[in-house]
Amino acid sequence: MAVTIKSEREIELMRESCRLLAIVHKEMEESIRPGMSTLEVDMIGDTLIRKLGCIPNFKNYHGYPASICVSVNDEVVHGIPNKHRILQEGDIVSLDAGLIYKGYHSDAARTHAVGQISPEAQKLIDVTRESFFAGIKMAKAGNHLHDISNAIDAFIKPHGYGIVRDLVGHGIGTSLHEDPQIPNFAQKRRGMKLQAGMTLAIEPMINMGRADVEWLDDDWTVVTEDGSWSAHYENTILITDGEPEILTLY
Ligand code: MF3
Ligand code: CO
Repeated sequence: MAVTIKSEREIELMRESCRLLAIVHKEMEESIRPGMSTLEVDMIGDTLIRKLGCIPNFKNYHGYPASICVSVNDEVVHGIPNKHRILQEGDIVSLDAGLIYKGYHSDAARTHAVGQISPEAQKLIDVTRESFFAGIKMAKAGNHLHDISNAIDAFIKPHGYGIVRDLVGHGIGTSLHEDPQIPNFAQKRRGMKLQAGMTLAIEPMINMGRADVEWLDDDWTVVTEDGSWSAHYENTILITDGEPEILTLY
């Protein structure tokens, strides 16, 4: 799948797709409380996406069985919602969601606290979000793709966290995953030159412990190998000649 440069018309559609996704994230965030199941979170997200006239793009994506990825604690990404999986006070929960509006995809992820959480867990969430913003400082036309990767890595390094290497960010548009792939760790090559009109999903996944991950037997859920907790922060952005536009912020 090639890198695509969006026209003004396509950019408007991406903006709307992402604006609607931000509303979905807001509603899911406000619903989070101890005692709810991860399936309830999926139902809230799925219902709102459809009410907004959109299609949940994760559902049936390579057979993924839900609309929202709900990943708890040591689950990094792609947790499968389950009515028996109950969120507990002190947990952290990563919600990854996307939708299709008039053929255009959006994708964003947030990690939330469930009730009161430890200062260590809160710091992991905060640093993961901040690493995204460190990365996109470099996201402008004329810079190179791996300037983003290197900036995320440099921001995380002093914290000693593990940066997940097996999953990366990606281009996005009329498909959920377009080229280029966007690693969140330092690269030797510069990568491609960024151009105005590229839309990218940048998504650091950061572990409190080591970077290594493994896949559970459900073939979806990615967990940390060492059992340490993990946070995720993702937005769909637009490259411009100046500052990037973050399309999925509320
Ligand atoms: N949001 C994920 C990404 O950033 C995609 C989820 S794949 C699914 O690439 F199958 F779980 F939907
Ligand atoms: Co993504």
